Amino acid sequence: MDPQTTELSPYGAASSVPSPVSRMMVAFAADFRDDVDINLGVGYVNENTIPRGLIEEALHAVLADPHKYRVALNYGGPSGSANLIESIRRFHVERGIGGLTEEILRKNEIIVGPSGATSLLEGIAHVLAPGIVVTCDPIYYIYCNFLERMGFQVCAVPEDEEGLDTDRLEAFLHGLGERRREIRFFYAVTVSNPTCRILSNRRRRRLVEIAARLSRELRRKVPVVFDKAYENLIHDPTAEKPESGLLFDELGTVYEIGTLSKILAPALRIGYMIGPPGPLVRAMIQKTSDAGFSAPLITQEIASWLLDHQVAEQIERVNAGYRQKAAATRRWIDACLGEFLAACSGGRAGFYFYLTFDRIETHERSAFFRFLSRTTGRPAIDEPGGAKGPRVAYIPGEFCVRCGGELVEPGRRQLRLSYGFEELPRIEEALRIMREAAVFAGSLPDAAH
Ligand SMILES: Cc1ncc(COP(=O)(O)O)c(C=O)c1O
Repeated sequence: MDPQTTELSPYGAASSVPSPVSRMMVAFAADFRDDVDINLGVGYVNENTIPRGLIEEALHAVLADPHKYRVALNYGGPSGSANLIESIRRFHVERGIGGLTEEILRKNEIIVGPSGATSLLEGIAHVLAPGIVVTCDPIYYIYCNFLERMGFQVCAVPEDEEGLDTDRLEAFLHGLGERRREIRFFYAVTVSNPTCRILSNRRRRRLVEIAARLSRELRRKVPVVFDKAYENLIHDPTAEKPESGLLFDELGTVYEIGTLSKILAPALRIGYMIGPPGPLVRAMIQKTSDAGFSAPLITQEIASWLLDHQVAEQIERVNAGYRQKAAATRRWIDACLGEFLAACSGGRAGFYFYLTFDRIETHERSAFFRFLSRTTGRPAIDEPGGAKGPRVAYIPGEFCVRCGGELVEPGRRQLRLSYGFEELPRIEEALRIMREAAVFAGSLPDAAH
């Protein structure tokens, strides 16, 4: 026996090595200097959008009404708090979210995951048999990396301005031939992380139709999981109003996963799933029980109270803030980096821009990255004035494109930049430093990029 080894499952073995993004972000956070370094890499929400006062009020209101909010500090049931489920239902119907009506929601079940949308996505990967998952390229790298560790094969179809390109999806499915049998589910993020492109209604409908056709062909349901994490953050008033995939669902293959993280607070860890009742939903409820019985009942009840009180004003406030930040960030992107860029998406929803440079590479070994992490080996850049210069973190496109997929080459010249967490003056400063990095990288011979 080797006392140093533990027999891990394939998932355990794959997870024992940190993912490249985790490794990079941990390295950046390890010696992060609050007023010096600038983090455009994390997907954190803006602290100013979190309604601290309302959350405090909600806690008091919940504890003061044990009749409505029963045993709020005890264990909860695995499908979610009845109060919260009712609040989520009303929230959708009264605000007309996705065009959902009482009638459609009556046909579907709402369940609350143990810890945010992430835990529901995790649940899906546990309750479905391993096989092929079809998604959009660039990918939501966090979930796709997890799916691979769980033994799924992730296939990604490139997006265009309308999101996942369904013509290319049809061609991909055709090319897959007999292997179509291995497809387990479709995973579509309605406002892409990382590109923030919004999946058009036309494409949503088409995706649901394609899944229905495949389901008929394979004589089993092939679910479409819509991840709506950023759908309440479509802040461009000219953007098309999104329609829920459940509106087009004739076969009962559509599941939507939403979260309150982006409009209320990530720390509440409230994610929910809406979908047709059946074995998949039942298995997901059991999975919640296995993971920790339920999301903490107290935060579920707080979330329920928040959805019942002032949520409209809160969503408006959050979106007005991101709208303003998007416009300012875009101006600085154009002014500082415009001459180096081939494309820029985002700014209409969520809080990311996704940049494609003409020539400059952005991956971890690139001159641009090394400038911004102050690891060029040149003291004048790394330590101007004797101390380490301000560092700027972003997510390299290399991590956002499907490994071995069609976008690998452009991915080397892309990056995701978040305007969520940092405040505007810091974002402006970051873009000014990014310009210096671009000028530096551009001054080197191509081979040194
Ligand atoms: C596409 C996407 N899905 C899901 C999540 C997770 O949301 P939650 O905080 O509810 O786990 C995120 C978080 O950033 C996300 O970007």
